[in-house]
Amino acid sequence: MKDIITLGIESSCDETSVAVIKNGREVLSNIIDTQIKIHEKFGGVVPEIASRNHIEAISRVTKMALEEAKITFDNIDAVTPTYGPGLVGALLVGLSYAKGLSYAINKPLVGVNHIEGHIAANYITYKDLKPPFLCMMTSGGNTQIVYVKDYCKFEVLGKTRDDAIGEAFDKVARVIGLGYPGGPKVDKLALNGKPTIELPKVHTDNLDFSFSGIKTAVINLHHKNPDINKEDLCRSFEETVTEMLMGKVKKAIEQTGIKTIALAGGVSANCFIRKEFSELEKTGIKVYMPDLKLCTDNAAMIGAAGYYRFLNGDISDLSLNAVPNLKLGE
Ligand SMILES: Nc1ncnc2c1ncn2[C@@H]1O[C@H](COP(=O)(O)OP(=O)(O)OP(=O)(O)O)[C@@H](O)[C@H]1O
Ligand SMILES: [Mg+2]
Repeated sequence: MKDIITLGIESSCDETSVAVIKNGREVLSNIIDTQIKIHEKFGGVVPEIASRNHIEAISRVTKMALEEAKITFDNIDAVTPTYGPGLVGALLVGLSYAKGLSYAINKPLVGVNHIEGHIAANYITYKDLKPPFLCMMTSGGNTQIVYVKDYCKFEVLGKTRDDAIGEAFDKVARVIGLGYPGGPKVDKLALNGKPTIELPKVHTDNLDFSFSGIKTAVINLHHKNPDINKEDLCRSFEETVTEMLMGKVKKAIEQTGIKTIALAGGVSANCFIRKEFSELEKTGIKVYMPDLKLCTDNAAMIGAAGYYRFLNGDISDLSLNAVPNLKLGE
């Protein structure tokens, strides 16, 4: 069968990334131009600045991706940009570029849901992984347990009722003075801490999550006691949120009878979460976790998800718009 090459384009937040992907699984190039240094001084992503920097970067990053993959536009079978969810101005840069490119080189445009992309990062790391499986999606904007029925068929079994888990990590980090992006910094401090501080765990009857309570508890604790041991606080926070995740994941496994679980999204780079998920293997559950560099935003995962959408015949037309609050399965 002829190889299919997708050009993944990602610009939903503060990474401008372009990747060349072969048959949905093989990364020929994955260039990631991160704006972290630019937004660091503001303590978070400034949308307008993100859009401007995507504009500056997108052509250069595309050229680098093609060069590294040693291909030309002629070799591409589909142009597959993220069209949501994300920051609207940021999304529009990658999407508009992709639309122009698709028209100019006369290759199909396939819009990709960013969350599907995070899930697809697993297909790159594990060449044997096939649906159906459960996926614990933990990122800066989303926290949900997804039943991946097929490559393009999803059912959300449970989701956060308030903050995303990554948002909670970032807020905790900001309040205790660690800076942006907070997740990796909390993770690092937690390594040397002890889980000595009791924090509230929210119980819901179904598979939904809630992280605003624990986030507020950490903020209040720190305000009342600015000298609190940060390492212990980070460790206690990390262990408590992991316990919340694991509880729901075990419940989802029980309810569905599906014994394969994948992790996805930026927070799945967390050391403690990865360790606890690995422990599930001892109970006969098959666990998949994307390579660390594929957990946070990158275009390789978008090109992988775009490949399966392309095979599914989901060709977009040039009227495709950015959808900032796009849901999985829409
Ligand atoms: N080691 C880590 N431990 C905990 N959190 C982490 C770690 N590394 C990254 N994160 C968190 O992951 C998030 C970024 O992940 P990602 O790029 O998937 O989110 P996003 O693209 O902003 O949101 P979404 O994918 O929902 O649109 C940030 O909240 C960051 O703090
Ligand atoms: Mg993301």
